[in-house]
Amino acid sequence: MMKNKCLNVLLLIPCLLAAPAVLANTPGITPISAADYQEECGSCHFAYQPELLPSASWRKMMAGLHDHFGENAELGADAGARLTAYLVDHAADHTDNKRSRRIMRSLGTTVPLRITDVPYIKKEHRELPRRLVQDNDKVKSLSNCDACHTQAVKGIYSESGINIPGHGRWDD
Ligand code: HEC
Ligand code: HEC
Repeated sequence: MMKNKCLNVLLLIPCLLAAPAVLANTPGITPISAADYQEECGSCHFAYQPELLPSASWRKMMAGLHDHFGENAELGADAGARLTAYLVDHAADHTDNKRSRRIMRSLGTTVPLRITDVPYIKKEHRELPRRLVQDNDKVKSLSNCDACHTQAVKGIYSESGINIPGHGRWDD
């Protein structure tokens, strides 16, 4: 049987010291694993991870890319099918990380097209004043996750990775 390293008395202190840093950096959300998703869906904005919305939302969005929030984001049939499968397979209702479960619980039966319309996401940001988001030239919209979440691309949204442009770290 493998011996737990942290039970070794000599290693106990370094293990305890390392634990908080390790926890703080545990990615809650799985990073993007499809290169073409990054390319096709990350050209106009941050490439949102599929685990941030349920499969029903992704299906709906992918069926209406010709009018995607006022833009034409239409894909060829092959790429469209491939990316839809990627999004659906990794959607919030098909994974079991803590954040996706919270997203699903907060949604009930609603099918939002925006992550920023998910009640759990809205609630997490409700204390942010306009001054730091919409009226902040370096942010402009809550949709720009990576403007504040410096490790968003790694799927890390925890407080330790937050740095609001012109404001800095967030302590609530
Ligand atoms: C031609 C540019 C363009 C491309 C390509 C594009 N988008 Fe968008 N997307 C937009 C715009 C514009 C918005 C609205 C942004 C806003 O309101 O700030 C948006 C918003 C979104 C949102 C909602 C963000 C929120 O507010 O929660 C999601 C999710 C999204 N896009 C996913 C995708 C996916 C998936 C793809 C690839 C199939 C994609 N986008 C490709 C322009 C694009
Ligand atoms: C203006 C900066 C800003 C933007 C843009 C932003 N966030 Fe946040 N986010 C924050 C702050 C600040 C908190 C912590 C709020 C608190 O604790 O009161 C937070 C909290 C969160 C949390 C909860 C973290 C935790 O550990 O409890 C998640 C998840 C999250 N954001 C995801 C997102 C996603 C996804 C987007 C993009 C759709 C986004 N955020 C856009 C600033 C931002």
